[in-house]
Amino acid sequence: MSETPHNNIESTLVENRLFEPSSNMVASAAISGMGGYNALCQEAADDFEGFWAKRAKQHLHWSKPFTKVLDESNAPFYTWFDDGELNASVNCLDRHMGTPTEHKTAIIFEADDGQVTKVSYRDLLTRVAKFANVLKAQGVQSGERVMIYMPMTIEGVVAMQACARIGATHSVVFGGFSAKALQERAIDIGAVAIVTANYQMRGGKELPLKAIVDEAMALGGCDAIHTVIVYQRTQTAVNMVAGRDYFMHDLEAVASEQCEPEMVNAEHPLFVLYTSGSTGKPKGVQHATAGYLLWAKMTMEWTFDLKDSDVFWCTADIGWITGHTYVAYGPLAAGATQIVFEGVPTFPNAGRFWQVIERHKATIFYTAPTAIRSLIKASTSDESVHPKNSDLTSLRIIGSVGEPINPEAWMWYHRHVGGERCPIVDTFWQTETGGHMITPLPGATTLVPGSCTLPLPGIMASIVDEAGHDLPHGAGGLLVVKRPWPSMIRNIWGDSARFKKSYFPDELGGTTYLAGDGAVRSEERGYFRITGRIDDVLNVSGHRMGTMEIESALVAHTDLVAEAAVVGRPDDLTGEAIVAFVVLKGARPEGEEAQRIAKILRDWVGKEIGPIAKPKEVRFGDNLPKTRSGKIMRRLLRNLANGEAITQDISTLENPAILDQLLKPL
Ligand code: WT7
Repeated sequence: MSETPHNNIESTLVENRLFEPSSNMVASAAISGMGGYNALCQEAADDFEGFWAKRAKQHLHWSKPFTKVLDESNAPFYTWFDDGELNASVNCLDRHMGTPTEHKTAIIFEADDGQVTKVSYRDLLTRVAKFANVLKAQGVQSGERVMIYMPMTIEGVVAMQACARIGATHSVVFGGFSAKALQERAIDIGAVAIVTANYQMRGGKELPLKAIVDEAMALGGCDAIHTVIVYQRTQTAVNMVAGRDYFMHDLEAVASEQCEPEMVNAEHPLFVLYTSGSTGKPKGVQHATAGYLLWAKMTMEWTFDLKDSDVFWCTADIGWITGHTYVAYGPLAAGATQIVFEGVPTFPNAGRFWQVIERHKATIFYTAPTAIRSLIKASTSDESVHPKNSDLTSLRIIGSVGEPINPEAWMWYHRHVGGERCPIVDTFWQTETGGHMITPLPGATTLVPGSCTLPLPGIMASIVDEAGHDLPHGAGGLLVVKRPWPSMIRNIWGDSARFKKSYFPDELGGTTYLAGDGAVRSEERGYFRITGRIDDVLNVSGHRMGTMEIESALVAHTDLVAEAAVVGRPDDLTGEAIVAFVVLKGARPEGEEAQRIAKILRDWVGKEIGPIAKPKEVRFGDNLPKTRSGKIMRRLLRNLANGEAITQDISTLENPAILDQLLKPL
């Protein structure tokens, strides 16, 4: 908490333009005009619990109605709707049976190679029920944990929903994480089963998943895992361990299509999703069933103004929170037709996103700034992949998520993808918040490029100083949320002390949620702008990475590395880039030798964590810049990584000569 925000994505373009919502949108939107927005905010302010209770009754199907709303007696371990019972898969699937949605397309799946498969809500329920029976037959019980290490496929969504149906808590690990990362998470959560695929298809390449599961198991410690279920995505054979590994289709062939859902308490952990924090160990963010699902559904209707006729497309992988809330749960709870896309934005060419939108007539498109920036770049050098070559007139709302969107990228997105017609919802939220927190509303908010604008009704976001005092508009400070909300993180799996310390620090009174981002509100409108993380968390291509995690991975190469420090620096394409400063056990390498060792270390980090964590740059020094008490001066390293002049006082620096060694890229 002591460090000042350092992720200053500066922009060369000063954007003063305002974009008013169209009168059509205001007339038809779920939240209509600022009047509509203000009325909801007032309702939440006047009767906070009543505001939420009303919506929990209206949006969710309860097998046992709740009588309590918010329980703050054990703050910050808040609970919501605690004596109610429900099932998440019933609320995403069964609820639509017997309604016109039953035969509506739930998922339009477009595979990496362009092949399309559609499933209706009815089909999806059948598949989920069948797979839920498979899990049960394998001995998975309510309350137990199941790892999911799957590609972006219908089967990935089925696996998540099936866990929910039997009351098992899932933990999805992104398919780009390494065996080591998978093993650590499986051990931390005490998983009893893993659902995976033999391979995944990305950009025309077949990439292993099952082999990585085998490698993770071989690393040891996952003794509780008795079953590995393998979805056969491709025809390539994989090693199968007798008595442990089974093909999904073999088990499903003998499973019933009827599966009575397991009703669980509102607070039952629906899932745990690991994310990076400021220590080396990832945090298992635990979410509760009812509150999470309520907000997933409500934000589909508020932020995306979902209508029955919409074709919704969120490009996020199910391995991230965005793929949980806006692929696996939100769209289904809301009865939407959604696109699930297996591939990558650049295959077979960088016009793929636009082609998918045209092909399936997507009306709502939700992606990350990093994807937009890379597609801007691609279409600058190759006209044929420019969005103008595709018919994007079906779009009516476009969204951004995961990192600040720079005004240049915003303007391009607005002009070339949104046809100057679609509002951009720049949604600020986090793994911990479960769903959107601060975002424009398509039929209410005047847009300012680069600003996530205003908190959703019921979300009591504020900006405070380090002592928790409110700051005036225009002053940068800590982003906090002063009242609990239903979809908030419930705990860090197995580490309540870390939960309290990370999110509800005593300095802020112990009950205020600390987001971990810096923010500032505009003088004119009170709009929020996120200035970046205030902790040692980086955002690389919208992927959250802890600097300590990467440092731990580097020093784990005990043959080579004596010491390492990792910082982020702004990057035009990826938002932030990882720069590692390394002290080797041997002599400081130069020239080609330095390049060679840098590559070894980058590959090593790829193996330890996953390719997304590979440093963009490695620099070697005889030592790291330290104070006389031995503390690494990270601020200085950030200056060096950035190529900035050192203007600050370095008189406390033990070894100023080191700076010269670390000044230049290899
Ligand atoms: C961090 C959370 C949100 C789901 C995907 C990422 C940054 C997220 C925005 C935005 C500026 C943003 C924050 C936040 N972030 N959305 N619209 N504008 N920054 O979830 O991996 O938990 O990362 O992403 O720094 O703390 P996550």
